[in-house]
Amino acid sequence: MSKKRSLSGIKPTGFPHLGNYLGMIRPAIDLQDEYEAYYFAADYHALTTARDPKAMRASVYELTSYFLAFGLDPEKSAFFRQSDIPEVCELTWLLSCVTHMGLLERAHAYKAADAEGRGKEISHGLFSYPVLMAADILIYDSDIVPVGQDQIQHLEMTRDMAQKFNAAFNVDALKLPVAKVQENVATVPGTDGRKMSKSYGNLIEPLLPPKKLRKQCMAIATDSTPLEDPKDPDTCNVFTLYKLFATPSELEDMRQNYLGGGYGYGHAKQALFEKLDAYFSPYREEYQRLRADEAYLEEVLQSGAERVRPAVEEVMDRVRRATGIGRR
Ligand code: TRP
Repeated sequence: MSKKRSLSGIKPTGFPHLGNYLGMIRPAIDLQDEYEAYYFAADYHALTTARDPKAMRASVYELTSYFLAFGLDPEKSAFFRQSDIPEVCELTWLLSCVTHMGLLERAHAYKAADAEGRGKEISHGLFSYPVLMAADILIYDSDIVPVGQDQIQHLEMTRDMAQKFNAAFNVDALKLPVAKVQENVATVPGTDGRKMSKSYGNLIEPLLPPKKLRKQCMAIATDSTPLEDPKDPDTCNVFTLYKLFATPSELEDMRQNYLGGGYGYGHAKQALFEKLDAYFSPYREEYQRLRADEAYLEEVLQSGAERVRPAVEEVMDRVRRATGIGRR
């Protein structure tokens, strides 16, 4: 029996932070043995905000490098550029014609932009972002989509659009995907204690050079308990982050240090930095090696696009037949 297909898209914007790594990158890569993995750099989606063509191309290479560095195996999985499959734009249109504005008006990202008062100046691209994302998923007959919590709504909308399309044309052309959300991973707190997120500027980016990584660790907000006093590990962000990477005995040691007093937050932050640096430095080196070889990265992207192409042809053939669009 052939493997089920796991698909996900990642916007190429900047370095991976711990939240991305634990919530999405690591789990997605871990699925590549059990599933046929199709992952892509969502450059069309990035265009809702990106305006610098050079930075866009560079970001795609960055993203490709870190997926490879973290263990994506291009011999068995596809990593490709969203825009190398331009048919997703065609499918976006077909889905747009069965999708109500009412559905899109409920999207969190649109509602947030609207609440900021951007009203009529919200781009059509941002408004129809969920349609493009649905096309991304449906065009590969995807079975599962590993995503973070924040994308669950998009997956529900995708299923909705697929059902609407199938019902409108009385076909079974689009397969309904299922979201696969990491459940055992707690929300990763950022340096200010809120959820780690690019929009909050509270990131820890483990592939940065050690000096910068250390600076981010040192910036973690803590309370003002004096150094000599006992501290509560369970309400401290530094401890929460350390927990994600430490062994049980390392964690127990740090817990005792907190409870015993005479151990400052600066000590804990240093321990966290050392832990992260030790864990990520092999990936960082591999990342740098890969990032320097754009010809190789482009080869990986092109062979990824070739690998996913047969699924695209099949699905596009079904939807074109269903709608009467094209020559057949
Ligand atoms: N919207 C996703 C994000 O912001 C990225 C994305 C684009 C995606 N297309 C996708 C994720 C398809 C899963 C499947 O993170």
